[in-house]
This record gives sequence, structure tokens and C-alpha cells, in this order.
Amino acid sequence: MHTHCHSEPLLLMTPGPSRVPDRVREAGARPMIHHRTPEFSAVLADMLAGLRPLFGTKADVLPVHGTGRAAMEAAVANLFCAGDEIVACCNGKFGAMWAGIAEAYGVVVHRVCTDWNRDVDPDEVDAALRTHTGVRAVTVTHCDTQTGVLNDVEAVAAVARSRGALLLADGISSVGGVPFRFDDWGVDVAVTASQKCLMSPPGLAFAVLSDRAWEATRTATLPRVYLNLPGIREFVTRPRPQTPGTTPVSLVFQVREAVTMIAEEGVENVLARHQENARTVRQRAAALGFAMHASGLRRLSPTVTVLRAPEGVDPQAIRDGLRRQNILVAAGDGPFKAAGLRIGHLGDIRPPDVGRTMDALGEVLHQLREPASG
Ligand SMILES: Cc1ncc(COP(=O)(O)O)c(C=O)c1O
Repeated sequence: MHTHCHSEPLLLMTPGPSRVPDRVREAGARPMIHHRTPEFSAVLADMLAGLRPLFGTKADVLPVHGTGRAAMEAAVANLFCAGDEIVACCNGKFGAMWAGIAEAYGVVVHRVCTDWNRDVDPDEVDAALRTHTGVRAVTVTHCDTQTGVLNDVEAVAAVARSRGALLLADGISSVGGVPFRFDDWGVDVAVTASQKCLMSPPGLAFAVLSDRAWEATRTATLPRVYLNLPGIREFVTRPRPQTPGTTPVSLVFQVREAVTMIAEEGVENVLARHQENARTVRQRAAALGFAMHASGLRRLSPTVTVLRAPEGVDPQAIRDGLRRQNILVAAGDGPFKAAGLRIGHLGDIRPPDVGRTMDALGEVLHQLREPASG
């Protein structure tokens, strides 16, 4: 339970790491147990089962020890050969990240949809696949956390499938807060991480692969050692699931607790709460004179809101003012660095937290505009 004996705790309204609820924090403080025991296997199995509905899949969810990029890198290393071609949707920092990881492994990347102020256009992806007929896969970011876009993974997956390419989706800032339907959408690889909608500390990532993706792992020749997905699958599908090497035991306890909390609240209720958070932030921000920063985006993620500070107001001063009220929001990034402000409202963030943040935002803005009346 929260205690309010002194000043209110720092409210993390950042798009990851997000607030870790007390139950999850305490799950990480349990006495250590050994990762080769039946007790631990049961916890690991519980955690992985609890993640399935969040990905919308019946397939195995694989733990990848590392933050989100470890699962992205695993996807690349396990599916391709040097010289393979992919199409990367780059309408944000994390879309471009897929491209950079693939190039580092010697994969040839065709970048499309590079405008941060537009949703990924499935027709543009299709045109690239018609031009480059040897492309093996398309990468896309579901929610690009730096712009707040919610790219249409389902539509891009359909295009990829129609041209015989695999679809790799980054759900790091969406899975658990936004509907994700791995099986129904025909996604081939989806990844997420512990520190956003999963309400846990950073350090554990997850990947799901389709049968087509597993098939590709059989002919892939890029080096894979620590991030060997077939190796991880072999361990987690044992009657008593384990992982290769040492498992980050405490983090598994924590994510298990988080997915239990999500199941108790009800996945649909959790997703609806994210929608409500987003609606409140956006309505109240608009009333205060903020604009949506990426004004060209059509589909916005309910997990993060990227605002442009009103004319003549320094966003850094806004963030400092919020920080003095014990509320942390993030700065803009890329083209939105100068005037931007990013508010994360994902994971454990509840309507009262959103209310407190938007009240404070109004006060800070008032003070900055009329310092004398401060
Ligand atoms: C959408 C998205 N993709 C990838 C990453 C990178 O993951 P990590 O920093 O956990 O390695 C992040 C992290 O913020 C993200 O938001």
C-alpha cells in the first residue's frame, strides 16, 4: 500500500521506465531462489502464460535477457543471412533502430516511410516490395514512442504477407496497453520489454515467433550465441521450463506479478484505462493551449502523448516546473526536440495520476505566463 507520511512520491509520467507498483516492487525483493528448481520453473511458466493474451497469441512467448533492443537484435540475428534484404518503416526513432540493427549484421535495408509526421503507409511498403522483389522481411514499430504514432501493424502485415515477406513488429511501448493480435494479424515476430506497459523494472524482453519465422531461423546464418532463439525455445518448452544460462530470477518474479495484476484487472479494462488516460491528457492539454506535436499523424497510441508547447513557452521550463511538483515527464526527441514534451500514461498510471499531472501542467503554465501572479 502507498504511504503518504511525507511528500508525495515522484510520479513517473515518462514513457518507460514507467511506475513500478508496490506489488511488483515487493515481488522483486523476495529471497533468491535457484533458477533450476521446480519452484522457479512454475513462476517462469506463469509469467510466459500471462504474456500470451497481451500479445494476442497461442504461440510460445520467449524471454530474452536484456532490454527491448535485445529482443529486436535477436529477431534480426535469428532470421537472416548477411546480404538478405529487408524493408524498414522508419517514421520514428525506433523504426530507424530496426534498420540500424539489421545493417550492423550485414542485412541490406531499404528505408521507407521516413517522415516522422506521417503514419506508415501500407501502399508505400507495397511499392517497395514490388520494386525490391527479393526482400525477406518488413520491420515496423507499433507505437513509436518518440512521436506517439500507432502504426497499423495489421495492414502492413497483410501487405508483407501478400508479397511473401515476414513482418517484424516492435511492440515495446504498446503490448499490454494497446490491443495487439499477433495471431489474427499474421505477425511473424513481435517483441516487447518489461519496463513500459508491463509495469516492471527494465531488463527483460520478450519475443514471439510465427511458424514462418521459426522456419526462417533454420536457414539463417548470422551469428547468434547469447540471443539464440531456438536455444531459448528449447529450454522454455521443457516440461519444467527454464532458460539457457542464469535467469534474472527477480525480474521474472516481478513480471509474473505484473501480468497477474493485469489479469486481475482484466485485459480489456486495462486497455480501456489506457484509452481513457490518453483521452483525458489530450483533451486537457488542448484546453491549456498545447498542440499535438506530430499534427500529421492519424492514429495515435493511447500510451504516450507528444505535445508542442504553446508559442513562447519553453518546454524545458515546463518540465522543470512539473519536476518541482514531483512529476517527471520526458523531453521531445528528433524533430520534436525543441518544443516537445512527452507524457507517458501507460502501465500502472491511473486516472488520478493523469488528473494530478494535468492540474500541475495548468499551474506551471499559468506561472510561466504570468510570473508576477505566480
Ligand atoms: C518503441 C521502442 N522500441 C525500442 C526501444 C528500445 O528498447 P530498450 O531501450 O528497452 O532497449 C524503446 C525504448 O524506449 C521503445 O520505446
